[in-house]
Amino acid sequence: MSQLTIALTKGRILKETLPLFAAAGIEPLEDIFKSRKLTFETSSPDIRFLILRGTDVPTYVEFGAADVGVSGKDMLLEHGSSAFYEPLNLNISRCRLMTAGIVGQPLPAGRLKVATKYVNLAKRYYAQKGRQVDVIKLYGAMELAPMMDLADEIVDIVDTGNTLRANGLEARDEIAKISSRLIVNKASMKMKHQQIEALIDTMGAVVEENAAAV
Ligand code: PRP
Repeated sequence: MSQLTIALTKGRILKETLPLFAAAGIEPLEDIFKSRKLTFETSSPDIRFLILRGTDVPTYVEFGAADVGVSGKDMLLEHGSSAFYEPLNLNISRCRLMTAGIVGQPLPAGRLKVATKYVNLAKRYYAQKGRQVDVIKLYGAMELAPMMDLADEIVDIVDTGNTLRANGLEARDEIAKISSRLIVNKASMKMKHQQIEALIDTMGAVVEENAAAV
C-alpha cells in the first residue's frame, strides 16, 4: 500500500478532527498537542498527518504535497476550490461567514472599506451585490477595524457572536454557512483510488453516526 499524507488544520478544527479519525481507527502515535513536530505517524502504518495552518491546507492538497486535507469551507471559498475534490462534509467546526459593522451605523453611500482576511471571497461577494469596495487585508483581530475607522465593514467567521458583541459590532449579512470538509488531490484520487475511497467511506460512516447521535 502506498503512503497517504493527510493535512490537518491546527487549532480549534484539530480538536474536533482528531476524534473523527480516532473513530475511524486512525490515531496519531504521539500527542499532537504536546509536540512541536509537524508530521505524525498514525496507528495506520500507511497514513501520516501533517499539522498546518488552515490557509495552507488547500495549497498542500492542490499541489499534491498532501493527498487529503481537512479544511474549513471558508478557506476553500477563499482559495478557490476547483483545484481539488471536496467529497465529504465532516460537519464539524460549524459557524457562519458574515459581514459585520458598528451597531446602528448606516453604511456610507459611496465606496465601502472592508477589512478581512478573506480578500478574494469578500471581493466576489460585494461585486455580486453591486457594491464598490476597497478590501483591506488583515491577518487577525478584524473586529477592531471598524472602531478604529480602518473599515466600514468586516467579513469574518461568527460562531457565538461574543467577539462581535464585545467590540460593539453587529452581524449583518450571512455570506455562507461554514463547516470543515475533506478535500482530495485530483491526481491522488486516481493513483491511490482504493485507499482514498476506503478513507472517504469510513469517515462518511463516522460523520453519519455522529449526526444520528445528536
Ligand atoms: C474567530 C473569528 C472571530 C471569532 C468568532 O477567530 O475570527 O474572531 O473566532 O467567534 P465567536 O463568534 O464565538 O466570538 P479565532 O479565535 O478562530 O482566531 P483567528 O483570528 O486566528 O481566526
